Amino acid sequence: MESKIRKAVFPVAGLGTRFLPATKANPKEMLTVVDKPLIQYAAEEAVNAGIKELIFVTSSSKRAIEDHFDKNYELEAELERKGKLDLLTIVREVVPDDVSCIYVRQPEALGLGHAVLCAAPIVGNEPFAVILADDLIYAAQNCVLAQMVSVFNDRECSILGVEEVPRDETDKYGIVDPETSDGRITKVKTIVEKPSPAEAKSNLAVVGRYVLTSRIFHHLIDIPRGAGGEIQLTDAIARLMLEESVLGYRFEGKRYDCGSKLGYLQATVEYALLHPDLREPFREYLVSEFGQRAKNRLRAIND
Ligand code: G1P
Repeated sequence: MESKIRKAVFPVAGLGTRFLPATKANPKEMLTVVDKPLIQYAAEEAVNAGIKELIFVTSSSKRAIEDHFDKNYELEAELERKGKLDLLTIVREVVPDDVSCIYVRQPEALGLGHAVLCAAPIVGNEPFAVILADDLIYAAQNCVLAQMVSVFNDRECSILGVEEVPRDETDKYGIVDPETSDGRITKVKTIVEKPSPAEAKSNLAVVGRYVLTSRIFHHLIDIPRGAGGEIQLTDAIARLMLEESVLGYRFEGKRYDCGSKLGYLQATVEYALLHPDLREPFREYLVSEFGQRAKNRLRAIND
């Protein structure tokens, strides 16, 4: 069946201050987990979910992202000349031929909601996905966006990727008030951006995956600034819920918060342990350096 979601928006205009000085001249989305930048994991997830248009909402210091998804003739010619065909394939497959990349600028850093609104003229009047590349999600089989698209194809309403977070961390996320649940799918009553643990209605947080109907733009245009003085996607979703149903989807997969140094390091270690060339030597290194406790844990990760 043809997917009903053909476009994905990647808001990549943020400053990435938590990784300074690494992100002084390089976009945080270009930080590498093992051998791929975060934004490529996000783009691959979209492509695996059947998306055909990747829409990047960028800002002035993000040229490296455009270069990454562009053709590099010089590099390709050089790899071809040297007969490095495996590497040539890796470079050529960064974006499949039937997928296009579109770039739009967010002129001012006014928040996630504003970034998504900047993509409105390109998305038009159709449902679309939003992926936050900071949230890297490993799924052994079906990637999370593909799981959500399949829920959308069935239910035809907005879907939020959600997971439970520690109660004392609700002020880092959009937190939903869940109503009735049916397996992984939960009807959502309200959503609040970054509530304090005392105010939060639950510990069910939205992580960086959304499938939204285009009606969201109608609300993004006129919501006032919210948490942190920014135009929040969460606030527009709260309004959307008053007129359309919005579902939370407890995805199957493990999320790494690569917007934080700790999450980024965890992702790096665990992705290295899944990498076909690295898993054995890296596992041996960790065991020899960190001993038996690590050995038991590593066995659990790899098995
Ligand atoms: C954004 C959203 C928030 C969401 C989070 C997921 O926050 O505003 O609702 O829960 O991403 O990572 P940010 O991390 O940009 O502060």
